[in-house]
Amino acid sequence: MAKKNIKDLNLKGKKVLMRVDFNVPMKGGVITDDNRIVQALPTIRYALEQGGKVILFSHLGRIKTEEDLAKNSLALVAKRLEELLGKHVEFVPVTRGKVLEDAVAALKEGEVLMFENTRYEDLDGKKESKNDPELGAYWASLGDVFVNDAFGTAHRAHASNQGIASHFPNDSAAGFLLEKEIKFIGGAVDNPVRPFVAILGGGAMAYTFFKAQGLEVGKSKCELDFVEYAKGLLKKANGKIILPVDVVSVQVSDEDVAADFFGAIAKADTKVVDVNHIDKDAQGLDCGPKTIELFKKELVGAKTVVWNGPAGVFEVEKFAKGTKAICEALANLDGATTIIGGGDSAAAAISMGYETKFTHISTGGGASLEYLEGKALPGVTCLSDVK
Ligand code: 3PG
Repeated sequence: MAKKNIKDLNLKGKKVLMRVDFNVPMKGGVITDDNRIVQALPTIRYALEQGGKVILFSHLGRIKTEEDLAKNSLALVAKRLEELLGKHVEFVPVTRGKVLEDAVAALKEGEVLMFENTRYEDLDGKKESKNDPELGAYWASLGDVFVNDAFGTAHRAHASNQGIASHFPNDSAAGFLLEKEIKFIGGAVDNPVRPFVAILGGGAMAYTFFKAQGLEVGKSKCELDFVEYAKGLLKKANGKIILPVDVVSVQVSDEDVAADFFGAIAKADTKVVDVNHIDKDAQGLDCGPKTIELFKKELVGAKTVVWNGPAGVFEVEKFAKGTKAICEALANLDGATTIIGGGDSAAAAISMGYETKFTHISTGGGASLEYLEGKALPGVTCLSDVK
């Protein structure tokens, strides 16, 4: 059943409750990647242009202790949004109560406010994350319609999406970003134009498969619990899983790795070895040149490519070649739909300057993976059906 989108709602003079996913990475009080904010702008702008009074809310990080509160405030995010929007964003540093209610009541058509991190409500009994019915009802009472543009959180059934939507059976709609994500990722899963290639990496995934083939992986990251599963997949795939044939490896002491992983590997000498020659004291951190050529060959003629997970520790220049080569190969594919499933590979592609070279870079991490697996997303199923 098709879901309503924001254009199906009358927003004029309405208090528009808009869930966005502004769970952006931060380092030392600075937003290091504002893509999720940028991607939500068209929906926010549309609601403002239609005369809506926009009430934005998002989670940031995970809140378990009092100490988590200050470092996960949305204050900086509101500031960044204000710069990007070129318009005042009234930041309300609470998640409920009179201050918030008064700010909502004072909002005029075409104005926007953002309230504090929805997960502040997790401190006292995980109210947001456990979809506490009282919390969903309270937030719903602040508005007239609900718009969900938080694709990155759509795999969660929380008070700020499913909880609120349950109070607006006819007036809960998808924002433009959520709709775009569903179109591209859904299209790739449901009916891809073939040849279809999925590139999966991240978390040193290949080493679990090497182990399943009985190879020495040394100190490389490897999920021992999944070795049997990987064996089963290799058998089932019948040659359709193409694994790396060589890797860039380093030897670093356990102490140096424990003290500063990135620092230790950045200083270490590298050695390219075939996958059947990984030393027992070494660990692989990127795919090697033969693998890059192999992958490039496999990609020739592909018409749909979905990529999730970088090919190596791209944060350190000398282990970024595999990831860069994938970006390059996908950017040069003719007439293909190329989709990055979010998370680290999206961050890698954007930081390497390939932001505009893909058909779609998802803002989801876990959400895009679950959607690619074919699971229904609660943040989507909770929205009103088009009648
Ligand atoms: C994400 O970054 O994947 C989303 O914002 C969801 O965050 P979560 O995994 O903390 O629920």
